[in-house]
Amino acid sequence: MPAYLQKHVLAWFDQHGRHDLPWQMPRDPYPVWLSEIMLQQTQVITVIPYFNHLMARFPTVQHLAAAPIDELLSLWAGLGYYTRAKNLHRAARLIVAQGDFPNTLTTLMALPGIGRSTAGAILAQAFNQYGVILDGNVRRVLIRFHALHGDPYSMALQTQLWELATHYTPIKRSADYAQAMMDLGALICTRSKPQCSLCPLSKQCLGFSRAEIALLPTKRISKKTPIKNTVMLVVRNTQQQVLLVRRPLSGLWNGLWCLPEMNDQAQLDRWLTEQPLTLKQQQTLPSFRHTFSHFRLDIAISLIDCTVNFEARWLTDYQWFSVDAALQLGIPAPVKKILLQL
Ligand code: ADE
Repeated sequence: MPAYLQKHVLAWFDQHGRHDLPWQMPRDPYPVWLSEIMLQQTQVITVIPYFNHLMARFPTVQHLAAAPIDELLSLWAGLGYYTRAKNLHRAARLIVAQGDFPNTLTTLMALPGIGRSTAGAILAQAFNQYGVILDGNVRRVLIRFHALHGDPYSMALQTQLWELATHYTPIKRSADYAQAMMDLGALICTRSKPQCSLCPLSKQCLGFSRAEIALLPTKRISKKTPIKNTVMLVVRNTQQQVLLVRRPLSGLWNGLWCLPEMNDQAQLDRWLTEQPLTLKQQQTLPSFRHTFSHFRLDIAISLIDCTVNFEARWLTDYQWFSVDAALQLGIPAPVKKILLQL
């Protein structure tokens, strides 16, 4: 199985891969490292001019280490993810202090900004050693080739992907294989509109044979949006009018008329004793969930029929409305939904 993938990916790379990237000429540790850091979050096409500028200004790791960080940051401006530049600068000083460029997985990973995949990419490309990479491109190729469903960043899938990446990486032509897999992911097995008809792996690709390419990799499960709770009060007087309150001018639903809200029954009980109301009947209506972009609100509804003792004591924020009049006001969707039920 590794033989099929290696053979076809390398043959494809010889014909169609990228052989003239500036950091491949020559594949020395310093330009390879510099480019790999730059390529962590940025595409090749964007990186090239920045890489060329940096290499012109800092032709060796000694030049980079000797420069003030501000100079590096000004050349980095526009690339984003500035932590990369700061790590690069710290790592340059460590490398110069050590005397030699690190050339093992552990010593590379000990440098700031170098994770397992970047270390693998440097080992393969700069030292022509066995180096395993698993960046976003390689991950996508392997997930599709094996039709692996599930959250790509789950521990289980991460472990499986590293095993597969290790299994497929050849001892010989490590550098070409690393570049080949990244090129295949970037040029053919793209996130959207992959070109399976041009892919050297399509004959054995499980995702392709099952027509599942468009479903893979599985979309990352979004972080669960938080759930908040509230109790909305439908306070009705004997004329069947409902009590609304105007929301403060800042925050959620600012300035809109809403039903009074309580956090829980205890707060509701306290509130009732403070108002000039005599409770006749309290009922619970079915609750529902309202979804905002950044949270969900579980809304419980308490229907409170009461008589009003003396209105003068009402705070000015509160006002009685007939249901019809209330529906004419600017009111939030969940309040409207409740009033329509009445
Ligand atoms: N992404 C990370 N390293 C890369 C490389 N050497 N070529 C293309 N894309 C990359």
